Amino acid sequence: MKDAATFWDKVAPKYAQDPIKDMAAYEYTLERTKSYLSADDRVLEMGCGTGSTALLIAPHVREIVGTDVSPAMIEIAVAKANAAGIKNATFRTSTARDAAKGPDSVDAVFGFNLFHLVKGAEDIFVDVYKMLPKGGYFITKTPCLGDKSVGFKRFLFQAMIPPMQWFGKAPYVHFFTHKEYEDALRFAGFVIVEAGNFPAISRYVVARKP
Ligand SMILES: C[S@@+](CC[C@H](N)C(=O)[O-])C[C@H]1O[C@@H](n2cnc3c(N)ncnc32)[C@H](O)[C@@H]1O
Repeated sequence: MKDAATFWDKVAPKYAQDPIKDMAAYEYTLERTKSYLSADDRVLEMGCGTGSTALLIAPHVREIVGTDVSPAMIEIAVAKANAAGIKNATFRTSTARDAAKGPDSVDAVFGFNLFHLVKGAEDIFVDVYKMLPKGGYFITKTPCLGDKSVGFKRFLFQAMIPPMQWFGKAPYVHFFTHKEYEDALRFAGFVIVEAGNFPAISRYVVARKP
């Protein structure tokens, strides 16, 4: 299997062109996410990809820092921020694991369509908990491909992804269930204040540090 940066660098140009598959679900979770933020907030986004969500959030917060393991994704995000003249969104290359260890001082942390792609995501949740202030939000959306709500497709994913990985056509994937995913957040210390499937395959979870 290719390392994450190599895999995602290669798919970055196509990823930047791909339309969002379920726009209604995307817009719904974007609005829900904005409802937890205030104009003075500093936000860290892990696995920001080409920065689309960070750039939509930027007008609603003091600043947002987007991080991603792939330099090619970050290059596209920086170009998009410059083209749009958005100054309070900055981007840098970092693994989620390193980003969770600082140095950013933040009020909210995001990880969208990321944590099923990261080995040992549970440990990162613990570091995110430490970096947030009391009352801070950790907002994630995670395809839980091992959950029974995915239906028979979960067996297809489990059968197809390993050979694709062998040929370098798929990244590392963890097959979370909803319970396993939400238990990991609770184990880190978070309280779950909102959760739902938007779109059906993806678990949107708003977790708060009490
Ligand atoms: C499916 S894309 C999601 C991008 C964006 N968050 C979105 O929702 O469109 C996954 C992103 O996670 C990044 N990624 C994968 N493994 C990572 C890791 N260990 N640390 C940080 N970013 C990672 C990839 O480079 C890619 O940009």
